[in-house]
Amino acid sequence: MSRISKEQTLTRDSRQTGAPIMMGSIRSDIYGPDTIRISEVIGRKYNNPLGEWPVEKFHAIFESPPAAKEILDVGCGRGQLAIHIARKFNQRICGIEKSEAMSQVALKNISKANLTGMIKIINTDFLNSSIKGSRFDIVVSFDVFSYFDEKDLLFAKLSSMTSPNAVLIFSDYFCTDPKDSETQRLAKRWGISLPGDISYYSRFLRRHGFENHSIEDTTSRYRAHWTEMRRRCIDFEPQLLVAVSDQARKNYLDSIDSILSATRTGKFGHLLCCAKK
Ligand SMILES: C[S@@+](CC[C@H](N)C(=O)[O-])C[C@H]1O[C@@H](n2cnc3c(N)ncnc32)[C@H](O)[C@@H]1O
Repeated sequence: MSRISKEQTLTRDSRQTGAPIMMGSIRSDIYGPDTIRISEVIGRKYNNPLGEWPVEKFHAIFESPPAAKEILDVGCGRGQLAIHIARKFNQRICGIEKSEAMSQVALKNISKANLTGMIKIINTDFLNSSIKGSRFDIVVSFDVFSYFDEKDLLFAKLSSMTSPNAVLIFSDYFCTDPKDSETQRLAKRWGISLPGDISYYSRFLRRHGFENHSIEDTTSRYRAHWTEMRRRCIDFEPQLLVAVSDQARKNYLDSIDSILSATRTGKFGHLLCCAKK
């Protein structure tokens, strides 16, 4: 049996109320049922723009040393990346996901992939999670860290949950001008807290015991992904109008437009980081 540990129930279908519901700092209209339906219609497999690419790029880390690694996926969304890693490297994974709707879909996807027993999903806020006896060797987290306002709390938690030689692979955003109007529109639209420039995460990594790291600017991949998703939203408009309300479709397009506008100025971008303890 795939397992979902439900530490909190946080969300309701926004279509019942018509209004976005706040889940901590996350807007449930972004990671709730409408987004899941839209992703299914437009064939958006991962809720991050890099998809499997970081796993392929850092392939050797997942592959060696053999077996018995503990892997954690923070903000695992619909569980697709955890499924990919579990299948490809025959590794057990634990996914922590704050949205109940996303957690439920992750569980269904894991069951469909016959990976029940290999992947555990915990429905909670990462900062509140407690996994007894687990010290993770690899932590992945794609496009999640900007949802944490207190980065020191986040990195202290990551540090406390990882083994002495752990590897942390994450993607997130950077921003060189927090006053830029397009950047502010994006932050508001996605409910994220604005990070600093591309070296912003270095100080948190160092402060919390992650010594060696590489950071890569992945903004062009980010833009390419969202340009493609925008095209699909237009192509699949009739199907989207069956799956979600017109307002939900428009909100999604507006979110994409906020990304494309903010990244056009060069003041907002996307990064991939790999760090070791
Ligand atoms: C952009 S999506 C990325 C999903 C997934 N990593 C992927 O690559 O498909 C961000 C995810 O982080 C989750 N999230 C945000 N804040 C969280 C928190 N404090 N604890 C756990 N999950 C969180 C959201 O619910 C959402 O599913």
